[in-house]
Amino acid sequence: MNLENSRVLVTGGAGFIGSEVVKQLSLNNNYVTILDNFSSGKEEYLTKNEKNTVIRGDICDEKIVSEAVKDQEYIIHLAALPFIPDCYNYPQEFFRINTTGTLNIAYSAVQSKTLEKLVYISTSEVYGTAKYIPMDEDHPTLPHSTYAVSKLAADRAIYTIHKEQGLPATIIRPFNSYGPNITQPYIIPEIIFQLRNGAKYLKLGNIESSRDFTYVSDTARAMILALSSKLSIGETINVGSGMDIKIRDLAMLIAKLMKKDIEIKIDKSRYRPFDVSQLYSKNQKARELLNWKPEISMEEGLRKTIAWAINSELRFNDPFRGWTTGLNHKDYRNGGKKTSGKLGR
Ligand SMILES: NC(=O)c1ccc[n+]([C@@H]2O[C@H](COP(=O)([O-])OP(=O)(O)OC[C@H]3O[C@@H](n4cnc5c(N)ncnc54)[C@H](O)[C@@H]3O)[C@@H](O)[C@H]2O)c1
Repeated sequence: MNLENSRVLVTGGAGFIGSEVVKQLSLNNNYVTILDNFSSGKEEYLTKNEKNTVIRGDICDEKIVSEAVKDQEYIIHLAALPFIPDCYNYPQEFFRINTTGTLNIAYSAVQSKTLEKLVYISTSEVYGTAKYIPMDEDHPTLPHSTYAVSKLAADRAIYTIHKEQGLPATIIRPFNSYGPNITQPYIIPEIIFQLRNGAKYLKLGNIESSRDFTYVSDTARAMILALSSKLSIGETINVGSGMDIKIRDLAMLIAKLMKKDIEIKIDKSRYRPFDVSQLYSKNQKARELLNWKPEISMEEGLRKTIAWAINSELRFNDPFRGWTTGLNHKDYRNGGKKTSGKLGR
């Protein structure tokens, strides 16, 4: 990576993937500004470094965004509401933050006199379920959730603004990431936490679906490589491991690594409406344009994640009450207190 002593803005830098991006940029001597409203991001995940600056603010606040973007050379835009089940109840919030918030970043970036590159973090969810495998960047985009639609709208807006106004941008579509510093009850932390908490059975939803998992340090490295790559300007690039695993097999692998002999019980309340049944990436473009390949194997990555999760005080919603009935997003983020109103505030 040839990025050093550069000024980099990381939106969502206190989050799961963002905090790993900040860590890697800091190790490479960059001046990192983190713009985050800490709705799911955590102070303790941030790398402490005298070159780093934290702005507590909302990407929907145009004034804060324009201040944060001013004078930056590079931007990695990750701030978003990312957890699909939340969007069943808060679709407008997902569009407000994921789509309009991204337009705020793009609008300020277009006006910048110093900007070298913006990397927008989209998602593999924009594809919907696999029509063919492995899924390349030309795979049809048929999103299955309003989360994915809000991300696709932002993904296409960035592309259009690049074409229209010359914004030097790359769009990264990560497949599922996992690793320490979890913020959301994604499937891997969910399985680990159930096992850690001494569950008699693993209660899971659709275990026949499959996903393509990348360890978070590999995901973050791809994003940083995209920052410094001129070749990737105007390109949309998948970041995934290049294989998929069924949730059933994943759960059994995690149980084996945690030395638990356990059965899976299907809990239908965990079935997601309009679920994506398969995501499986083709990562050739990332290999060619970014000189990237995943380095951490699934087993090694899971061991690291388990080691982190076992000592973590984080808890998710327990007992689980279903995604669409009685869903309260704050249950697992707010010590079980019922809260009303908007997400991400
Ligand atoms: N985790 C994955 O597997 C995955 C896969 C594909 C794409 N992504 C994308 O990667 C990005 C990061 O996801 P993550 O998994 O690290 O989730 P995360 O929730 O840990 O990160 C999101 C960060 O954005 C911040 N944020 C949310 N709303 C904000 C707002 N209005 N203003 C400022 N900051 C705000 C949160 O506090 C948090 O720090 C998201 O854009 C997500 O769509 C994630």
